[in-house]
Amino acid sequence: MLTLSPHAKINLSLEVLGKRRDGYHELVSVMQTVTLSDELRVEDAPDIELTCRHAEISGADNLVFLAARLTRQRFGVVRGARLELLKTIPVAAGLGGGSSDGASALVALDRVWGLRAGCRALSDIAEQLGSDVPFFLYGGTALVEGRGERVARLPDSTRSWYLLACPSVRVSTARIFSSLPPSAWTDGSTTRRLAADPTRTRQPAVGVNALQETLFRVFPETRSCFDAVHRLAPGRALVSGSGPTVFAAFSTCEEALAARRALAGQPLWTAVAASHHPEPGELPCA
Ligand code: C5P
Repeated sequence: MLTLSPHAKINLSLEVLGKRRDGYHELVSVMQTVTLSDELRVEDAPDIELTCRHAEISGADNLVFLAARLTRQRFGVVRGARLELLKTIPVAAGLGGGSSDGASALVALDRVWGLRAGCRALSDIAEQLGSDVPFFLYGGTALVEGRGERVARLPDSTRSWYLLACPSVRVSTARIFSSLPPSAWTDGSTTRRLAADPTRTRQPAVGVNALQETLFRVFPETRSCFDAVHRLAPGRALVSGSGPTVFAAFSTCEEALAARRALAGQPLWTAVAASHHPEPGELPCA
């Protein structure tokens, strides 16, 4: 039995450059994996079987299941696998949980089936699974461009601590992108500056999120969570991805825990997580 920990991500900065001919949006983002993670257990079996206690994500459209089907097709594998997914990362929350689970399934099946597929081949399958999936084959801090498929590792930043807060609203990424006005498009320079900033490795830094205002407009009930976190960490709070999770960056664990305590009693899921950097060899593209 192989057990992996699919990590959540936050977008330290996310800009949208414009809309592409294929309907997707051209992005520039700095993405960071954090210590918050799910658990994925994988073992060889005659057929592909997925178990997950979350009924709503245990169907055939779960990215873990799709990763297994695509990998089998691509490499002509005749064996199956038993996959068990234990969720901790909130679902449809902007933390990339489903994408990370899918990427971990690719990594696990590559090992369990002895494929030795390598970064390039796994990235091809990851791209078919979803725009955020290729990043999770790298992990750590990365500059992500295109639809999400162009990933360049950045130097590890100093350990930062993040308060994560999520209201109980499920957000459809497709809905946010389809509601995004062209006035939210920018040239990516803020995000590229953050990626290149050498002080980023010494102090926690956050950039901008082009999707944030559209999230608040389409799902107005998500704004109060942002306001609450922003009051605790002015200038260091941002929505992650298409939301609704809001994160705030801190230099120490104590500060992040104190901010979390200040949110107690509010109807929010909250957690404190640190930046995560994979060990050499832990991930195929790291
Ligand atoms: O790639 P993925 O299936 O995760 O994307 C979900 C939806 O988000 C897409 O259907 C698309 O509407 C939108 N999207 C986009 N541009 C991106 C990534 C996602 O428009 N770069």
